[in-house]
Amino acid sequence: MRIGILTGGGDCPALNAVIRAAVKTSVGFGWEVLGIEEGFDGLVHCKTRPLTNASVSGILHLGGTILGTTSVANPFAYPTLGEGGKTIERDISGIVVSNFRKLGLDALIVIGGDGTLAIAEKFYDKGIPLVGVPKTIDNDLGGTVITFGFDTAVNTARDALDKLHTTAESHRRVIVVEVMGRHAGWIAVNSGMAGGADIILIPEIPYNPAKIVETIMMRERLGKHFSIVVVAEGAFEQGGQVTYAETKRAGRERRLGGVGERVAAAITELTGKETRVVVLGHLQRGGPPTTFDRVLGTRFGAAAARLIRKGAFGRMVALIPPDVESVPIREAIGPRKIVPVDSDIIESAREIGISFGD
Ligand code: F6P
Repeated sequence: MRIGILTGGGDCPALNAVIRAAVKTSVGFGWEVLGIEEGFDGLVHCKTRPLTNASVSGILHLGGTILGTTSVANPFAYPTLGEGGKTIERDISGIVVSNFRKLGLDALIVIGGDGTLAIAEKFYDKGIPLVGVPKTIDNDLGGTVITFGFDTAVNTARDALDKLHTTAESHRRVIVVEVMGRHAGWIAVNSGMAGGADIILIPEIPYNPAKIVETIMMRERLGKHFSIVVVAEGAFEQGGQVTYAETKRAGRERRLGGVGERVAAAITELTGKETRVVVLGHLQRGGPPTTFDRVLGTRFGAAAARLIRKGAFGRMVALIPPDVESVPIREAIGPRKIVPVDSDIIESAREIGISFGD
């Protein structure tokens, strides 16, 4: 038995923990493991290397992925130079299927977020026996209560909020902290609650600048001359649209960014208060994974190998407490898991005075 492992999409803390556990478990089953480099692109160009217990030794605590990754090489919409030097998208998925067979692979573990798992689901339909592992700091995949990487990202953001609090207070400033969260405000809500934010803006609750200002001015009246605003990159104003940092490019999702500046400009204009913006960006995707993510990644990696042993293809490992179980990949790439606006976490936040800008 020979299996392949690949990591696709944005990097994420604990990818290496998953790879390590999947390799160790597979080797324990007596299988050979091939690491596929840079996501599905490794199957387009046969970029592989053998993975043994020795090659995954010492990587548990490391951020990133030893296999490399990419967000720009979807074999079903592969960016290729077209006529007149224009980049066009081509379907070259047949190359992947034939390389999978050429490499003598019997099964594949695909570690990725919604984009990578949607690609995986299409290859499963084309006959590749594969299983998925849910990765994203955004925690917006269906089927699993938590994706690995999320806990580390929240801790990174919370740590930044702790540090920014003191400067906000010392200078009597408003500090707007833009965190990741393309479609869902999980990082913003959790880091904001743990880091003592006064205002949290998320894609699920479009904001009204006047309401943000109301909270800041109320705090001023109470003698609190500083405020901390956490804004998810995908948040937008009531009746407005999300803010992009770039125009659409072939073969990749459009990059978000800039909502923090937009919110800060409105606050300065309406209150006259000195405001600063901190964009945490990819800091949230790096660094050593937390204990929670190391354990979850290890459980996911081992469970993925067990899924293959059972022949449960087309499925994804999922945390359904207390156990790691499995769900069809289709479920994970279906409706996104966004923050329910009527959930207890939002209710509790509102009850302790956190504003959602609505
Ligand atoms: O999906 C994870 C994520 O971190 C999003 O929150 C963010 O919009 C995106 O990745 C950024 O990706 P890139 O690495 O392409 O900038």
